[in-house]
Amino acid sequence: MPLFPTLFLLVTLDHLVAAMNETAVFTFNGFSGTNLSLDGMATVTPDGLLMLTNGSTALKGHAFYPFPLRFHGASNHVMASFSTAFVFGIIDQYFDVSSQGMAFVVSGSSNFSTALPGHFLGLVNASDNGDASDHLFAVELDTVLNAEFRDIDDNHVGVDVNSLTSVQAASAGYYDDATGSFRNLSLISRKAMQVWVEYDGQAMELNVTMAPVEMPRPKKPLLSTFVDLSAVITDLAYVGFSSSTGIIFSHHYVLGWSFKTNGMAPALNVSMLPALPRTSTNGARTKVLEVVLPISSVLFVLALAAAAVVMAKRRAKFAELREDWEAGFGSHRFAYKDLFYATDGFKDTNVLGKGGFGSVFMGVLPKSKTNVAVKRVSHESRQGMKEFLAEIVSLGRLRHRSVVQLLGYCRRKGELLLVYDYMPNGSLDMYLHDQDKPILGWGQRFKVIKGVASGLLYLHEDWEKAVIHRDIKPSNVLLDAEMNGRLGDFGLARLYDHGTDPNTTHVVGTMGYLAPELGHRAKATPCTDVFAFGVFLLEEDAQGSVAVLVDWVLHHWRNGLIMEAADPRLGSEYVHEEVELVLKLGLLCSHPLASARPSMRRIVQCLDGDIAFKTEHQAMHMDFSMTTLMKDQGFDPDAMEYEQFAFEGFASANLTLDGAAKVTPSGLLALTNDKHTQGHVFFPTPIRFYAASNGTIAASFSATFVFAIISEHAQLSDHGLAFVVAPSSNLSAATGAQYLGLLNISNNGKASNHILAIELDTVLSPEFHDRQQPCRS
Ligand SMILES: *[C@@H]1O[C@H](CO)[C@@H](O)[C@H](O)[C@H]1NC(C)=O
Ligand SMILES: *[C@@H]1O[C@H](CO)[C@@H](O)[C@H](O)[C@H]1NC(C)=O
Ligand SMILES: *[C@@H]1O[C@H](CO)[C@@H](O)[C@H](O)[C@H]1NC(C)=O
Ligand SMILES: *[C@@H]1O[C@H](CO)[C@@H](O)[C@H](O)[C@H]1NC(C)=O
Ligand SMILES: *[C@@H]1O[C@H](CO)[C@@H](O)[C@H](O)[C@H]1NC(C)=O
Ligand SMILES: *[C@@H]1O[C@H](CO)[C@@H](O)[C@H](O)[C@H]1NC(C)=O
Ligand SMILES: *[C@@H]1O[C@H](CO)[C@@H](O)[C@H](O)[C@H]1NC(C)=O
Ligand SMILES: *[C@@H]1O[C@H](CO)[C@@H](O)[C@H](O)[C@H]1NC(C)=O
Repeated sequence: MPLFPTLFLLVTLDHLVAAMNETAVFTFNGFSGTNLSLDGMATVTPDGLLMLTNGSTALKGHAFYPFPLRFHGASNHVMASFSTAFVFGIIDQYFDVSSQGMAFVVSGSSNFSTALPGHFLGLVNASDNGDASDHLFAVELDTVLNAEFRDIDDNHVGVDVNSLTSVQAASAGYYDDATGSFRNLSLISRKAMQVWVEYDGQAMELNVTMAPVEMPRPKKPLLSTFVDLSAVITDLAYVGFSSSTGIIFSHHYVLGWSFKTNGMAPALNVSMLPALPRTSTNGARTKVLEVVLPISSVLFVLALAAAAVVMAKRRAKFAELREDWEAGFGSHRFAYKDLFYATDGFKDTNVLGKGGFGSVFMGVLPKSKTNVAVKRVSHESRQGMKEFLAEIVSLGRLRHRSVVQLLGYCRRKGELLLVYDYMPNGSLDMYLHDQDKPILGWGQRFKVIKGVASGLLYLHEDWEKAVIHRDIKPSNVLLDAEMNGRLGDFGLARLYDHGTDPNTTHVVGTMGYLAPELGHRAKATPCTDVFAFGVFLLEEDAQGSVAVLVDWVLHHWRNGLIMEAADPRLGSEYVHEEVELVLKLGLLCSHPLASARPSMRRIVQCLDGDIAFKTEHQAMHMDFSMTTLMKDQGFDPDAMEYEQFAFEGFASANLTLDGAAKVTPSGLLALTNDKHTQGHVFFPTPIRFYAASNGTIAASFSATFVFAIISEHAQLSDHGLAFVVAPSSNLSAATGAQYLGLLNISNNGKASNHILAIELDTVLSPEFHDRQQPCRS
């Protein structure tokens, strides 16, 4: 159906009546063959639809009537009245989210090259929003709630005068003529809807009405407001549409459009309008219906196929990964099938614990009926795997009563399974932190400490080659049937310790247990194990979080009251000398200078009472006038002050939370929980970033965190999160969305904010010059 626009432009030259009597009028029932000026993504489709956005993200599109129209007349005193009607449709990638909307525009210029896409709707940029020199009037059909523009919701019609902060807005919908009641409309419903905009230049009254395309114009407008446009709309102004996309594919269409100055815009003939494209999702649905019948008639073929599938699945279920170089490790290799049956298919009820590297399952090997613990480590990369397995297998030959015996391994795609002796009493951390486990008495603790020390000595010095554990902490100390402490998980950190460049291995281990030198040299040594062992000793003996333990015990030590640092849960049943020895040894081992730490052999000798601690004790007093020592070595003692903390899960963490942020029962820190929310979490006390005595030298710092973003839609996220260093934990003035709860439109970029953030941004915000759209499917 060829569509010819009717177009009249009547201009009288009678100056006296010109203001009220210059009339422009045009009607487009479809846009085929029209001569609009288009830019950006805007095109007219072969069907005659004016397509403002074409499905690309973060772009804009404009369509203007090619000539500017007269809005004032020569007298320039009285603003013309005008009215327009148009039919539009928005089709998004998703049914329930849209990325930005569109607007009917009257503007002094049709050149919007400096305007931004996204929530700026292709109308303004971050600096000229609200600028009276824009001479911009728009009726926005906005599908996103932008807090900075004080949007009322994510489905509204707004009247914009030089600014995207609407002078008036209403949720999309209409008032039923018959009942007078309000009916919702969804802008992104993929249905065509008609909008009428009428402005009375004399009364300065503006009405906006909308309705589904098949309905006549409702009598009561959706919104009605008084606004003086005489200083806004220039005498000669362009009329048209602007639209933009943000993070997801959106198509904004105009199906028909009529306009008239000083009169009622001609009614559009709905039966002449081109149809909105049928969306692929709808198409897919009908296709399903079409293929259901043929499928049911070949059901018996499927039944045959199903049998084959079951067999193939079974094969896939037990598939393993084997490489040539593994041939030599044969006797240490377990069959996945055996491990699967041993652990009842890795059932949840068999989980013994979850650690940084994976879950541990209890199992009974089907043939030998021996109890084992199977550690399931997810490991995608093959890098370092060969070296790691070589070490693991050699460790399989390592036998010591204080080391958990490694029996073997199995490899699958993306997964490594390590089989260990089963330790019936679980890991030590449960006894230290679980309320429902009995408190370990001093005798038991001291036995465990001695066991761990002897196991570590064996790894460091007594086996055929030195093995560095790399991750000593209570959760890696397991208790056998006699409650002896045994070291588990040795060397596993190494698997994660291989960077692509062998010279730049990154640090792996557990915060709080990491020796300070790992921060810059990043090489695990027996000394770094000793450091972790020192923290472990203090944790065994004193009570408090690992983060502050060393300082706390040290504080008591300096005040000559070291025993007050002892864990009060020990009660009175302990050997005073042993507790003191362990506390002091713990301090010595966790000495910031690696060279001041004792060797494992010396530690074991001390614990066994083989060498008197006296001499060590003296030496330690000297060492622990640490500042002197460090000065001797050329350190600035104040610059060496450090604070550290670590949270593995947040179940009992004391943090400062606000907004939507909360800690879930499972210990996750959930920062946001819904649309349009923001949440903050801060470490409860501020951290010193400049040495106390000398305010000019900034501290070095490092942080590591594990995060995940879960959105309603896969492949699509609305805004991100950031790691923040800020002078105040009160960010209540900040807005959400692209400001990430950090800043707002007016303070963004100000040096007085004193905010450093590492943003993990999932949305391309054009005003921040974001670099790429990470979120495209
Ligand atoms: C406008 O001009 C037309 C002729 O050009 C005339 O017929 C009409 O009466 C005028 N209307 C007003 C309001 O002056
Ligand atoms: C949309 O239009 C822009 C600008 O003309 C173009 O670069 C882009 O390739 C188009 N995208 C699609 C999906 O047609
Ligand atoms: C379309 O409009 C432009 C001005 O924007 C004009 O130069 C051109 O001749 C017009 N073309 C047709 C076919 O009307
Ligand atoms: C639009 O304005 C920019 C400067 O703001 C100019 O560079 C560009 O040429 C203009 N485009 C058109 C089509 O006039
Ligand atoms: C914003 O737009 C105005 C014109 O409306 C232009 O002068 C200005 O340079 C633009 N600013 C930026 C940052 O692009
Ligand atoms: C209209 O929309 C609002 C907000 O989305 C909703 O609460 C209300 O139930 C809707 N009403 C109708 C009649 O659909
Ligand atoms: C706006 O709507 C009201 C109520 O229906 C009506 O009285 C008024 O004349 C309308 N104004 C314009 C400019 O259409
Ligand atoms: C609308 O267009 C159809 C088909 O072109 C025509 O038959 C009908 O008369 C038109 N209706 C009006 C109200 O102009």
